[in-house]
Amino acid sequence: LKLAVLVSGSGSNLQAIIDACKTASFPAEIVLVFSNQPDAKGLDRARNAGIEAKSLAHKGYPGGREAYDHAVSELIAQSGAELVVLAGYLRLVSESFVKRWEGRLINIHPSLLPSFKGLHAHEQTIAAGVKYSGCTVHFVVPEMDAGPIIAQAVVPVLADDDAQSLGQRILRQEHQIYPQVIRAIAENRVSVGDDGRVTVHDSH
Ligand code: GRF
Repeated sequence: LKLAVLVSGSGSNLQAIIDACKTASFPAEIVLVFSNQPDAKGLDRARNAGIEAKSLAHKGYPGGREAYDHAVSELIAQSGAELVVLAGYLRLVSESFVKRWEGRLINIHPSLLPSFKGLHAHEQTIAAGVKYSGCTVHFVVPEMDAGPIIAQAVVPVLADDDAQSLGQRILRQEHQIYPQVIRAIAENRVSVGDDGRVTVHDSH
């Protein structure tokens, strides 16, 4: 399965996917890494791995979000990607972008959705006093951090956690489940029911 991975920052999830793709039996390859931030560390991670890396600054892009997202869509289409993976892409994608890639567009969010959508998920989690948190991989729909849930992983929230310590614990889980989900999609083991619930079938 050919992947386009979209990042805005550090790209540690991208790195986990790059590493997974290097293992012999992994059924996917990254054909494009794209960032809206020309100086994103994730672009360096891609180049270091010999993967095509492109960026388009969104600030001041003529025509606004729709035009920008159309340009991004074209880059993805040109790359031949079959699945678009948002990995810390800190930019709301437009409805037409979502429609174009619907069912082929996934995101990871550092909370147990539907709790704590949006920015500052860790701060929201700690402020709420919940004892468990985690991460969620889901298909993207126009509404932010919604969409059919494919996989989640759980971590405890510890009494002395701050956003950083909790975030690091969650990231370690993100790095596990994102490659697992990509593998499952590549192996055609993921299906969405009429009720919108996702089943991930076991590999055999
Ligand atoms: C992750 O916590 C991801 O869930 C969120 O943004 C963060 C990106 O981290 N959407 P990285 O760039 O993959 O290191």
